[in-house]
Amino acid sequence: MAEPLWWQSGAIYQIYPRSFQDSDGDGVGDLDGIRSRLDYLTWLGVDAIWISPIYPSPMADFGYDVADYCGIHPLFGSLRDFDALVAEAHARGLKVILDFVPNHTSDRHPWFLESRASRANAKRDWYVWRDGKADGAPPNNWMSQFGGPAWTYDDATRQWYLHSFLRQQPDLNWRNPQVRAAMNAVLDFWLRRGVDGFRVDVIWLLIKDEALRDNPPNPAWQPGQADIGRNLQVYNADQPEVHEVIAGMRQVLDRYDERVLIGEIYLPVERLVTYYGKGLGGAQLPFNFQLILAAWDAPKIARLIEEYEGHLPPGGWPNWVLGNHDQPRIAARVGSEQARVAAMLLLTLRGTPTLYYGDELGLGRVAIPRDAVQDPWEKNEPGLGLGRDPSRTPMQWNAGRHAAFTTAAKPWLPLDADHARMNVETLRAQPRSLLKLYHALLALRRRHRALTSGSFKLISADAHTLVYERALGAERLVVALNLGAEPQRLSDHLGGAEVLLSTALNREGTLAEPILRANEGLVLRP
Ligand code: GLC
Ligand code: MG
Repeated sequence: MAEPLWWQSGAIYQIYPRSFQDSDGDGVGDLDGIRSRLDYLTWLGVDAIWISPIYPSPMADFGYDVADYCGIHPLFGSLRDFDALVAEAHARGLKVILDFVPNHTSDRHPWFLESRASRANAKRDWYVWRDGKADGAPPNNWMSQFGGPAWTYDDATRQWYLHSFLRQQPDLNWRNPQVRAAMNAVLDFWLRRGVDGFRVDVIWLLIKDEALRDNPPNPAWQPGQADIGRNLQVYNADQPEVHEVIAGMRQVLDRYDERVLIGEIYLPVERLVTYYGKGLGGAQLPFNFQLILAAWDAPKIARLIEEYEGHLPPGGWPNWVLGNHDQPRIAARVGSEQARVAAMLLLTLRGTPTLYYGDELGLGRVAIPRDAVQDPWEKNEPGLGLGRDPSRTPMQWNAGRHAAFTTAAKPWLPLDADHARMNVETLRAQPRSLLKLYHALLALRRRHRALTSGSFKLISADAHTLVYERALGAERLVVALNLGAEPQRLSDHLGGAEVLLSTALNREGTLAEPILRANEGLVLRP
């Protein structure tokens, strides 16, 4: 196999910039804060950072409502601060990936201000405007991902505009070639500044059915579930034309060296893999969220890994994600014991791993008092447990005040109550902490190319254990994971294998008895 590219062998670390490190005492994280923590990231052993949006934004959706694609929100710093961050990251061998949000702009973006000004405006068609139905209802039955209809009536021009998310996030019309050209120019702007790639927000939603047909109702939807589930998303998502749009973005990246296009996609595997694109000219890494969505069950996980591997197109590079800013954290989903096993799984499967900041500390579901809620989704559909704040709380650096995240009286979201115990400094000093496990796993990946670029073979999966092999050339490693809280016996021929790493960080050397302890994962050399 040829030398792997950085985005194939490397590990990506997602930073939610509002919550990583505040440098100016306003209670919100910023670019200089991130820059001051680069040494931590290189110590941890990741290869790239992906930063959620940092552009000027009214923050209706905390930056996913962009008012200027080529600037930096003053809350986060300036373009100069950004350049300094990229330069210092690159000097340490760290790549920088930006979040690109092309499905919608902010309603304060100058493009939308023009578009809504009159039906005759040159930018009218940059967004999706339609007449309502004769009875005054919206143009179709599509729902917003954040609750309520996906259409808002605009008095000024007596038409409705489409917004897949908040009404403050009008959808761009990607059927319009001027929109494509303007957005490709945005990619160029950042690529020229040295950005190493983009994570493209909701890439599978970019183009909608041309006739904007009604979605069919979802028979499985029940009251108490999010509005978006009322209908099946047949005409507002995953349209065939989306692949041309993505190919266009990819062409922009391909004019530069080794840049990466990552797509956020929530679709079943057989649809997900189409996003590699024809001739693999699509997203190099269509995000694979199966480990986030699956039940924590060895046979199910074994099946989904095999299914995923089986569906990959020739030349398609796999990837795995364990958490992000929209989902409950891994420790909240599987508990702190299994979070260690999950870390080993993420970092030993075949393909690029993406880590979410704070998961390496074992952060779980942080309690958010009602009056501290920030997430607009939680505010729109309260009480359904949809809020994303519990996974977006400040990073915890030491046992001091606000865990050294900020010097402000109050951070924008509360910290985990346990921050005096669960923080980088404290956990780094403990030889067997989860943080040390992440560090050891990332180091192991660097030492063993079988882990970063070797083949994958499932060896066995029973009720509680998952065993697979990673091999490259003469090197053959076996990963054995116990997804349960009872010890489990492994196949006899693993007796005598060399233990390269245990999730418990308490044994090395020869595996005298082929037994996995409770909640233990092992990397073995047979
Ligand atoms: C994506 C982002 C999410 C955001 C939404 C709208 O799903 O990950 O945080 O709210 O898109 O941009
Ligand atoms: Mg700040």
